[in-house]
Amino acid sequence: MNIDVDLGVRGYRVVTGADARHGLSNLIASRAPRARAAAIVTAAGLVDRPWFDLETGVEQHVVVVPDGETAKTLAAVEYLCERFVSLGLSRDDVVVGVGGGAVTDLAGFAAAVYLRGIGIVQVPTSLVGQVDAAIGGKTGVNLTVGKNLVGAFHQPLGVLCDTETLETLPGRELLSGYGEVAKCWLLERRDPATVGASSREEFVALAVGLKAAIVSADEFEQGRRALLNYGHTLGHAVELLALARDPEELRHGESVAIGLAFAARLAFALGRVDADVVRAHDAVLDAFGLPRHLPAGMATGQLVAIMQRDKKARHDLTFVLDGPVGFEVVTGIDTEVVADVIERFRGES
Ligand SMILES: NC(=O)c1ccc[n+]([C@@H]2O[C@H](COP(=O)([O-])OP(=O)(O)OC[C@H]3O[C@@H](n4cnc5c(N)ncnc54)[C@H](O)[C@@H]3O)[C@@H](O)[C@H]2O)c1
Repeated sequence: MNIDVDLGVRGYRVVTGADARHGLSNLIASRAPRARAAAIVTAAGLVDRPWFDLETGVEQHVVVVPDGETAKTLAAVEYLCERFVSLGLSRDDVVVGVGGGAVTDLAGFAAAVYLRGIGIVQVPTSLVGQVDAAIGGKTGVNLTVGKNLVGAFHQPLGVLCDTETLETLPGRELLSGYGEVAKCWLLERRDPATVGASSREEFVALAVGLKAAIVSADEFEQGRRALLNYGHTLGHAVELLALARDPEELRHGESVAIGLAFAARLAFALGRVDADVVRAHDAVLDAFGLPRHLPAGMATGQLVAIMQRDKKARHDLTFVLDGPVGFEVVTGIDTEVVADVIERFRGES
């Protein structure tokens, strides 16, 4: 399936499907016609996968970076840029990011700053990468004091979401991606009963379609793009507390799922939706096999304090919530009400 991100001269096509990666050389030929070389940036564990048969159609080099979140450092950006110099990459050449969201974020940021910006093609191979990270042009790395604190908007020349690559993805990583897919399912008010009958290709196409439409309307997150943070306010707080005690406890998408269940309850407590909406949220999360209860040992006061620090919160607590006019960013929510709903949410566990 072809889905266009409509951003004028920065616009591009996202191709989803079981053999999308085979379109790489055509994509480079059409979007970077003067390219003579391509640097494929990927993680060590991925180069031996059966789907790692990429053909760029130009002189190609594979540059391996450390795996996962630890790869997202300024040191890795410096390493990549130095490798690009040694490979003789010019402004006409391209970088190809192949891997999970960590690799595509890092490769995208290195491409954004190398020679003040060269083209990047993203080939996300995790579900999170395909449904979220590789689309929309947000790139970046972490600092020791926090995630994604240094970055740039750098739209890719194209994105190839090859669902065949997901065959080798560990189940837990798949589940993490389902957290974001469930979010899209809810934002689009799809029927919970049809989750089971849908394919991975359909999940990817749904999420890419929604993200592409929202990014096309609001590239720099001045408005509508914030809706993509649905479930993320409590989700981030839960993720942070879990990370601090056990890095394996919750993947990002699992935390988002808990945040989605909570957002429905908060909207209900504020009189914005009826109980059917809460039930529909639970049904969607259950259909994806996602968690929807608050993990034990997370104090309400700690969760509220983290949410107040959340970069999306401005003055009071801010949530994306469902309501009579649809999903919207709701500001100024009384922290007492939020704390009370957290307590009741905990009681359901
Ligand atoms: N830029 C954005 O808009 C955006 C949006 C969402 C998330 N992100 C970022 O994405 C990152 C999370 O991405 P993620 O969940 O993909 O994690 P990840 O990149 O750490 O990948 C998870 C693991 O899966 C492995 N993997 C990837 N594809 C595989 C495959 N096909 N087969 C086997 N193993 C495979 C990776 O090597 C890694 O070990 C975070 O750094 C997050 O900040 C960015």
